[in-house]
Amino acid sequence: MKVMTIIGARPQFIKAAPLSKALKEAGIDEFILHTGQHYDPQMSDVFFKELSIQPPHLNLHIHGGLHGQQTGRMLEAIEQTLIKEKPDRVLVYGDTNSTLAGALAAAKLHIPVDHVEAGLRSFNKNMPEEVNRLLTDNLSTLLFTPTKTATQNLKNEGFSESKIREVGDVMYDAVLHFKPFSEQKKQSILEKLGLEEKSYYLATIHRAENTDNVDNLKEIFKAFDFIGKDVAIVFPLHPRTKEKISQLNIITKEIIFIDPVGYLDMLLLTDRASFILTDSGGLQKEAYFSKVPCLTLRDQTEWVELLDAGWNKLVPVNENLTETLLKTIKQMKETASHDNLFLYGKGNASRQIAEFILNN
Ligand code: UD1
Ligand code: UDP
Repeated sequence: MKVMTIIGARPQFIKAAPLSKALKEAGIDEFILHTGQHYDPQMSDVFFKELSIQPPHLNLHIHGGLHGQQTGRMLEAIEQTLIKEKPDRVLVYGDTNSTLAGALAAAKLHIPVDHVEAGLRSFNKNMPEEVNRLLTDNLSTLLFTPTKTATQNLKNEGFSESKIREVGDVMYDAVLHFKPFSEQKKQSILEKLGLEEKSYYLATIHRAENTDNVDNLKEIFKAFDFIGKDVAIVFPLHPRTKEKISQLNIITKEIIFIDPVGYLDMLLLTDRASFILTDSGGLQKEAYFSKVPCLTLRDQTEWVELLDAGWNKLVPVNENLTETLLKTIKQMKETASHDNLFLYGKGNASRQIAEFILNN
């Protein structure tokens, strides 16, 4: 059995790490195709090295451009690679342009596609990710869902139950496996940055709805700059956001900007933060795994169970952002959240996926 894993963006390297290990243990041959969507060493190489993922067998070096252009170029190159490599199945992750290009290229060649993190929905088709998810789920043979809500979303859309496998979240598997390593690094990132545990907030922003909207981006940095006067805000800066800040000449004095960090440093920064402020999908869950309250600077989230459990609150970005953030942080300090177990499975999603693939 030969599987082609198609990945290209930071969160996909993290998701692929535990599954790649599980495929190997199940005796499945894996060919890793990197589209090149993310390419800075701190957005790509660092994850392969730190997480012991075998280096990609092929990197297509396709990045940048408009969505259609990026996806189209990937589609063409992935098709060629599939024809050459002849995998039995293709594995795609999440909701990026690399995901859709991989699923579409494989489906057109009648190669079964398995989607890891299927069924997530924001119900907002203005998000590029929502379009990618809807199409990828429709092209897929097996739909590996991370949560009950994701499974229900697929059922509501009429997907046959025979295709759905609710296995839990591979990101939970990754956290369980790599957290101990994050604690063991010789010099901790906290020491390097001179931070005390639970004395700072960790922030990340990169979503199109925030970075491509000038008003939203300015509001966010105005709010962080204000809050940063009282509490240190550490902000690993996504290259997309860095570019926008510099184009718009946004000046901040109180935010501690750092380059994107590797996964182990990020896990530690998350675990020791007192609050997380983000629009990232993955970080919302990692905050919960570390029992750190999270404020999500979006109008909706795909990870709705975190809202129900009280670990996450949505904070829409508008002209009241500073006030709403401060009010919500205060509220969250005062209210206890439920310690719901197993929202994201039992930490064996990767092993289950490998077994389903092998036996399908
Ligand atoms: C992509 C995904 C998004 C995911 C995010 C994870 C899509 C549509 N979006 O968004 O769902 O949450 O990755 O981080 O697939 N850049 C660099 N160096 C890099 C990578 C990006 O400079 O290593 C810059 C380039 O200017 C690039 C821009 O960031 O054009 C945007 O990158 P892109 O991969 O298109 O989208 P992301 O915003 O990263
Ligand atoms: N992450 C990281 N270094 C950083 C920022 C994020 O390792 O500097 C990790 C983070 O811990 C999570 C994943 O990247 O596992 C989330 O990726 P991102 O926010 O880019 O994408 P999303 O999850 O929103 O698609």
